[in-house]
Amino acid sequence: MGFPNGYETGTFLALDMGGTNLRVCEVILPEEKGEFDIIQSKYRMPEELKTGTADELWGYIADCLQQFIEYHHEGEELDQLPLGFTFSYPASQDYIDHGVLQRWTKGFDIDGVEGKDVVPPFEEALKERGVPIRLTALINDTTGTLIASAYTDTEVKIGCIFGTGCNAAYMENCGSIPKLAHMNLPPDTLMAINCEWGAFDNEHVILPRTPYDVVIDNESPRPGQQAFEKMIAGLYLGELFRLVLVDLHDNKEIHIFEGQDIGTLRKPYSLDASFLSAVEDDPFENLSETHDLLASKLSLRATKPELELCRRLAELIGTRAARLSACGVAAICKKKNYETAHVGADGSVFNKYPHFKARGAQALREIFDWDPKKGSKSARDPVEIVAAEDGSGVGAALIAALTIKRVQEGQLAGIKNAGAMLKGTKAEKQPEEQV
Ligand code: BGC
Repeated sequence: MGFPNGYETGTFLALDMGGTNLRVCEVILPEEKGEFDIIQSKYRMPEELKTGTADELWGYIADCLQQFIEYHHEGEELDQLPLGFTFSYPASQDYIDHGVLQRWTKGFDIDGVEGKDVVPPFEEALKERGVPIRLTALINDTTGTLIASAYTDTEVKIGCIFGTGCNAAYMENCGSIPKLAHMNLPPDTLMAINCEWGAFDNEHVILPRTPYDVVIDNESPRPGQQAFEKMIAGLYLGELFRLVLVDLHDNKEIHIFEGQDIGTLRKPYSLDASFLSAVEDDPFENLSETHDLLASKLSLRATKPELELCRRLAELIGTRAARLSACGVAAICKKKNYETAHVGADGSVFNKYPHFKARGAQALREIFDWDPKKGSKSARDPVEIVAAEDGSGVGAALIAALTIKRVQEGQLAGIKNAGAMLKGTKAEKQPEEQV
């Protein structure tokens, strides 16, 4: 609830359960406004865990946290450390359901977790191992991005992730949140809303879909869900590209990779977004890098027209993703009547995919009809998507800090177990030193 003021202090742990890595950070917020120190360790997230059992998942995460603490605090007598856990799936971080996971996204498919609160089994796994950690806040990566970016740039009003999945968060007045009406919170109190816009248009009434979008959806672990995300997010970009090439090859009127064995290309999800990035990044007129990539990755010998087709296809897929992403940002700005804003954005697609930023900025200019003169190099656009601060590290720590502060002030709305939250932590022993 609410933005940080820049003067939050304390030591916090932050955990991010991403698709490929598990990241654990210790974040120190010093007295200086908007500053932070961070140490971090990354642990590989074994692919099998994504489709394994809930016990294996929580056990593995608790083991990593234990290793982190043993490594960085060997032999120390520790207080319970407050933890901000970035759990970037549609899980309620709200007053009603607390940590209930609504559905897995991004290719995760672990039985017995959907529809349940993820917090108790996670805490149980920590307890079994005697790890000195108190889970203080469960957050979404977009909320972390919003808060971390706002900590260092007060113009930030929206946090976005354009990565394996896609989504955004912004601040809403409690008075405009119908599902919280019964709580009678002060109407102008701010609360972060995790939009879960990946699920936009699941009914397929707004956005035109290509046959390839339909295949992606049908073949996914959760057909009918995350319709918008499946057109945009990094997890699907390479697959869209692959499906188009296979379809063109199988169409006998279109002679592409004719007479060649496309066995590797037929394997679902054999290409990821970095493949498309490389195609779009090929600096050579004869697309020689694309040629070599097709040869090394797919054992295909491509002619010049085939290479040009690959390049154009990657451009179309990448451009659609960037322009749809800009629609999401524009929708929030319109809802909130933001005439100017910074949008803190993070994620592999935003950071690495060629031209994603420029294409998104161009789309915003078209949507808002900004005067092109103002869009010239020297002038800045009224709404700018900028690189975010580290949401799942600094953002998670800040949200933990803000949560502890609220508990200390007795503002317990939405706090699950206020009594236990501070128990054994530094905040309990020396309340004046925290936050
Ligand atoms: C999840 C969101 C998350 C986004 C970006 C989506 O698949 O549903 O909760 O914010 O990915 O990581």
